[in-house]
Amino acid sequence: MQKKTVNYRASIDINYKNKCKTKSNNKTMSNFQNLLIQRRSIRKYKDELLQAEETEMILKAALLSPTSKNAHSWQFVVVEDKEMLEKLSRCKEHGSKFIADCALAVVVLGNPLVSDVWVEDASIASIAMQLQAEDIGIGSCWVQIRERQYNEQVSAADYVSDMLEIPMPYEVLSIIAFGKKEKERRPNDVEALLWENVHIGEFKS
Ligand SMILES: Cc1cc2nc3c(=O)[nH]c(=O)nc-3n(C[C@H](O)[C@H](O)[C@H](O)COP(=O)(O)O)c2cc1C
Repeated sequence: MQKKTVNYRASIDINYKNKCKTKSNNKTMSNFQNLLIQRRSIRKYKDELLQAEETEMILKAALLSPTSKNAHSWQFVVVEDKEMLEKLSRCKEHGSKFIADCALAVVVLGNPLVSDVWVEDASIASIAMQLQAEDIGIGSCWVQIRERQYNEQVSAADYVSDMLEIPMPYEVLSIIAFGKKEKERRPNDVEALLWENVHIGEFKS
């Protein structure tokens, strides 16, 4: 039987060129593809608080995210206190310092006793919050905690758990930092997508 080959890249490019217009800051995205293109990790923030409604929307995104067997294995710790943010920023040697300057950090926890796939549940909640933040013009960055070290003896997860008095059996997956963007970053380059990582029908190198 002859195989039907579809040029996904070409059709997506046409779609993209026809429909997408780069959004200007603070405007609600016109479509989901634009949102995905626009979202970049933001590590420099204005010294400005988020409005309560903005924080609520971000947390709602987490609580609306799907979980395996609808078991809701996650918990979230919301940190806004400057001193606590500064302490959190020292949770690992690299890739967390900017937490000190963010307006809001959400520590994402999972309960392995509730779900064997708590990592997936907590990851989906993490990205849902990031996408919601981008949609309302707020910058964010994921800080990886699971499998990372505070120092040679202490894991980043233990450091964060001690600091925030997180009880057993909760595990810390990530900290998502949020804040008003100091400046916009260049959107993702649609021309540079890794189409070679997509295999149609069967895996071919
Ligand atoms: C699972 C995961 C862990 C990450 N951990 C960190 C981190 O610890 N520190 C950091 O600065 N960025 C972290 N990032 C952000 C990535 O570095 C970033 O998403 C990637 O470089 C692509 O850039 P972009 O988000 O601007 O598209 C993480 C992202 C993911 C998805």
